Amino acid sequence: MNAHVNLQEGAEAPFYLPQGDECEVFAAAHANRLPALLKGPTGCGKTRFVTHMAARLGRPLYTVACHDDLSAADLIGRYLLKGGETVWVDGPLTRAVREGAICYLDEVVEARKDVTVVLHPLTDDRRILPIDRTGEELAAAPGFMLVASYNPGYQNILKTLKPSTRQRFVGLEFDFPTPANEIPVVARESGLSEEQVKPLVRLAGKLRALKGQDLEEGVSTRLVVYAATLIAQGMPVERAILAAMIEPLSDDEDVKRGLLDLVTAIYG
Ligand SMILES: Nc1ncnc2c1ncn2[C@@H]1O[C@H](COP(=O)(O)OP(=O)(O)O)[C@@H](O)[C@H]1O
Ligand SMILES: [Mg+2]
Repeated sequence: MNAHVNLQEGAEAPFYLPQGDECEVFAAAHANRLPALLKGPTGCGKTRFVTHMAARLGRPLYTVACHDDLSAADLIGRYLLKGGETVWVDGPLTRAVREGAICYLDEVVEARKDVTVVLHPLTDDRRILPIDRTGEELAAAPGFMLVASYNPGYQNILKTLKPSTRQRFVGLEFDFPTPANEIPVVARESGLSEEQVKPLVRLAGKLRALKGQDLEEGVSTRLVVYAATLIAQGMPVERAILAAMIEPLSDDEDVKRGLLDLVTAIYG
């Protein structure tokens, strides 16, 4: 196997602050033609990580947001009527396979069952994509990589990946950044000073501690960035926190009041 890893510190790569060795593991998976599965809560940096890595590896990126209507044809392609003629149009997965691009299936567990079946021959060492409709059997171009993400937090038995599917991927676990990482990330993304970001990150930590009790999910880094962005644009701190870090978490008035108490405890 060719384990050579060639990472470029591309100036055009979107900003991503590593949490650990995930960049190296991802690059090694890519170099060795292995697919990767990114696990972690929503808004913790998975999508940013993939766009960053695609740029550093110099590969085009096709992202597909999976949903319960997404079918194999949406990924692979279909015949469409164009000017009185029927023409085959590649879907994003087929395009990625042909071009040697990275195909990112976001929230893959949401997709219909026929989608996971399509992925199997692509995720073992055959690396082929059979296209039943055209009779083609595409071999993935060098550089092609399948990346999928899912959120193991949603406790839905019907919506977990089957072992036969998940055991085809190299797995990378993501979580919200530690405060030492989240502060510079939020400051950089929002333009707010690190000093002003600190209490927001402390509040985020307290909100995340409530996961499983009052809250289904802890507050995401994305929401902390939203709050900081609103504050940087001049919105009063409490108003910004209510809009960006509390309303999105709960519809229950009692729970929201409890969360606001945490804000008061931090900001006094
Ligand atoms: N390690 C990180 N480096 C840079 N930005 C990050 C990082 N983690 C989170 N973010 C910020 O959080 C936002 C949401 O992350 P995203 O990748 O969309 O989450 P996910 O795909 O896990 O739902 C990003 O747009 C970015 O602003
Ligand atoms: Mg995402």
